[in-house]
Amino acid sequence: MCGIVAYIGHREACPIIIKGLKRLEYRGYDSAGVALLNGDLNVYKKKGKVSDLQAFIGDKDTHSHIGMGHTRWATHGEPNDSNAHPHYSSSGRIAIIHNGIIENYASLKTLLQSKGFTFYSDTDTEVFINLIEDIQNENNCTLEEAVRLALHEVVGAYAIVVLSKEEPNQLIAARKGSPLVIGVGKDEFFLASDATPIIEYTNEVVYVNDYEIVVIKDGKLNIKTREDVPTTPYIQTLQIELDSIEKGGYEHFMLKEIFEQPRSIHDSMRGRLVAASNHLVLGGFLEFEKKFVKAKRIIIVACGTSWHAGLVAEYLIEDLARIPVEVEYASEFRYRNPIIKEGDIVIAISQSGETADTLAAIELAKSKGATIFGICNVVGSSIARASDAGAYTHAGPEIGVASTKAFTAQVTALTLLAMMIGSKRGTIEDSKLRQLMIELENIPAKVEKALELNDKIVEISEEFKDAPNCLYLGRGYNFPVALEGALKLKEISYIHAEGYPAAEMKHGPIALIDENMPVVVIATRDSSYEKIVSNIQEVKARKGRIIAIVTEGDQVIPAMAEYVIEVPETSEILTPLVSVIPLQLLSYHIAVMRGCNVDQPRNLAKSVTVE
Ligand code: AGP
Ligand code: GLU
Repeated sequence: MCGIVAYIGHREACPIIIKGLKRLEYRGYDSAGVALLNGDLNVYKKKGKVSDLQAFIGDKDTHSHIGMGHTRWATHGEPNDSNAHPHYSSSGRIAIIHNGIIENYASLKTLLQSKGFTFYSDTDTEVFINLIEDIQNENNCTLEEAVRLALHEVVGAYAIVVLSKEEPNQLIAARKGSPLVIGVGKDEFFLASDATPIIEYTNEVVYVNDYEIVVIKDGKLNIKTREDVPTTPYIQTLQIELDSIEKGGYEHFMLKEIFEQPRSIHDSMRGRLVAASNHLVLGGFLEFEKKFVKAKRIIIVACGTSWHAGLVAEYLIEDLARIPVEVEYASEFRYRNPIIKEGDIVIAISQSGETADTLAAIELAKSKGATIFGICNVVGSSIARASDAGAYTHAGPEIGVASTKAFTAQVTALTLLAMMIGSKRGTIEDSKLRQLMIELENIPAKVEKALELNDKIVEISEEFKDAPNCLYLGRGYNFPVALEGALKLKEISYIHAEGYPAAEMKHGPIALIDENMPVVVIATRDSSYEKIVSNIQEVKARKGRIIAIVTEGDQVIPAMAEYVIEVPETSEILTPLVSVIPLQLLSYHIAVMRGCNVDQPRNLAKSVTVE
């Protein structure tokens, strides 16, 4: 996601836009820019933060009463000056800012290039503005009409604002899938991704709906549908505080990001999976399809939560693609003189793309001839750039130090990768692949349902918030989830927690079990269900306090557990995407009840760029 701001009215536009962009930097901060309309259409844009843009603008002439600005979270095209928004069209007579992803940008770009359009960036957004220009040229129509027609041709998510040198007293905006708010002032209007840039000027706002087009011209606001049908703007009076808007009304970024997961998981599949048309494509994979098909071994390097995603990937890739996988802590891998052979593929997983140990592990593997496939969330990050190919997770900025939506986005991308490799190697039957594609598309809705457990988990958190220790047990695909649940709890509540393969308990840890030990058991219905039921009985026999994560409708385990949390049923291999949700919520609520700093836990940093 990114942040967009626009202004039209009696004040100087630039200061309002810059201040508004600073309010939106939590939505994206790799580059920023403004476009100002005052006879000419001037664009100033720069890699870096809004403060870098401000320094770049310096004492340039910014006088204007109409303008727009963008603080970027790159999805297509690494962070640099040319990929920053706003983007001019080829002729330079119109410009756009955009929040979202245009999924069919590649085919549109090819078509526009065949018509002579020149591109100066790698972004999908620049395709959008040139499509609008092409439609205006072809139909000799107004900008408003060209935007409207363009919305019928683009596929994906957008919140856009478009300015034109030739229609100087107007702002055109539109949205589908990305947020857009209008601030209605006295003889002035504001547009933004959320109300934070608006609220100090007016608390009268209009939330734009999907497929609506906003036309602000000569002091009047008109909203129409994509079919050119006028709609009546519903003006609301905002009562909420600035701080709570940034967090989307949630108390912490971490909770906001937990609840963003239906959207972020969907975004990590966007343009890559359409079951109805049997469409399964992971861009970076295609470049190295042959290497993956022939690979004798895959090594996964990562740290922390990303390492847990790597463990899930080990089960997925060996299950679906039948290639041996080793998962390595990057910090160990880089120093233990590992055996790496030509033809080995190393998958590096990192939310920040800046983790020093993971970066060093990549460099070591590259020096020994391995091919690097990066799974990162930050476009243009060091690990992304050090990789030979890769796939971005498109989870949007993750501000909370404890990784939540990045984990499920990583697992989603890795699931797509395993499915692609299996499909190309012929190790998955078509019918099973198809069933997985359909089920994977259903995951966002199942995560949505799992989030409804929030209130029940608050109750359970109340019961265990003072426990000094906690054990997490799981088997199969839920073993990495047990590790992840334990990491979440310890890193934000400071309670000592350990994740274990459930069957390992009898090799020592069961000595820890007594009436004071909470034991979270992830026991969803899968191929090892009967075994985990026995493990639960072993814990119960020693008076352990059992919190069981089970599949909806389970009739067996509720009789054994003190607390039961039911999650929606899904394919065994997709279970981590659903069973992790209650564990994220449990750690969050316990940490809040213990008065911990949830978004910035003690001793931790969001990105560990040192050894
Ligand atoms: C997870 O909640 C932690 N914040 C931490 O373990 C993190 O996953 C680890 O530092 C790896 O970070 P990366 O994904 O940015 O490489
Ligand atoms: N897809 C656009 C880009 O990569 C916009 C990304 C965003 O929403 O920040 O520039």
